[in-house]
Amino acid sequence: MITSVINQKGGTGKTTTAVNLASALAKKKKSVLVIDLDPQGNLSYSLGINDFDYSISEALLGKKKISEVIVEREGFHVAPTDQRLSKLEFGSKTKISEFLLRDVLKKIRGYDFVLIDCPPSLSYLTLNALGASNNVVIPIQLDVFSIQGLEQIMETIQEVQSSLNKKLKVAGILPVLVDGRKKLTSEIKEYVKQNFDVSLFKSDIRTNVKAAEAPSFGESVISYSPSSNSAKDYLKFCAEYLRTMKKLS
Ligand SMILES: Nc1ncnc2c1ncn2[C@@H]1O[C@H](COP(=O)(O)OP(=O)(O)O)[C@@H](O)[C@H]1O
Ligand SMILES: [Mg+2]
Repeated sequence: MITSVINQKGGTGKTTTAVNLASALAKKKKSVLVIDLDPQGNLSYSLGINDFDYSISEALLGKKKISEVIVEREGFHVAPTDQRLSKLEFGSKTKISEFLLRDVLKKIRGYDFVLIDCPPSLSYLTLNALGASNNVVIPIQLDVFSIQGLEQIMETIQEVQSSLNKKLKVAGILPVLVDGRKKLTSEIKEYVKQNFDVSLFKSDIRTNVKAAEAPSFGESVISYSPSSNSAKDYLKFCAEYLRTMKKLS
């Protein structure tokens, strides 16, 4: 199963979700590959992967096999990235195929789950992710602007479903950075349920300082602070994700 974690906005918990879902899945003895598809390399950095010769860029360009760029962390595999990936996007003279990633992933076997951490844009890199995926998880912070953003994401997904990838599904919207006391949170959830034809995951990811601290220690929050609310929230979300994947498969 290949899942993209997408939202064209920055700071909506995509990277945190990709890292911690991977870590939670690995704890459940699933074999997982995470692909850092954001040239900012936040996911690689979050897992303490700073010094590497080859990145996902070389795999996409066919210069290296994906197995040659993979690094292991917390019981799962990571294909790291850095600025080289933006050169691939903007430095190329010819138009880059939307199927580079799909073709790379077709050649690999043996993973129960592949998670793709997308950049904060609806660029060609995100289209590559959507072209390669079975489904998407959309982390959103429940505020008014996110609703506006959600309309754009859903439009993009519909376009992809009618061209690049007819089988793409929305696994669900994941509420992140949730402050349980906010009345607005429940109102926005209600609005999303009534106005969008997608499901909301029941698991909320609450705002928690441990989640923000973990990246500087190069660990998932599940490893850095197993007893934190963040670790609990992501483990609970993982169980719901697994149930959803069963339904979608
Ligand atoms: N549940 C949370 N509680 C507190 N801080 C969080 C939480 N989730 C993410 N963060 C922090 O918010 C910032 C943005 O999250 P990130 O996952 O990098 O978003 P994105 O990948 O969508 O840009 C990061 O500094 C991250 O550590
Ligand atoms: Mg990110």
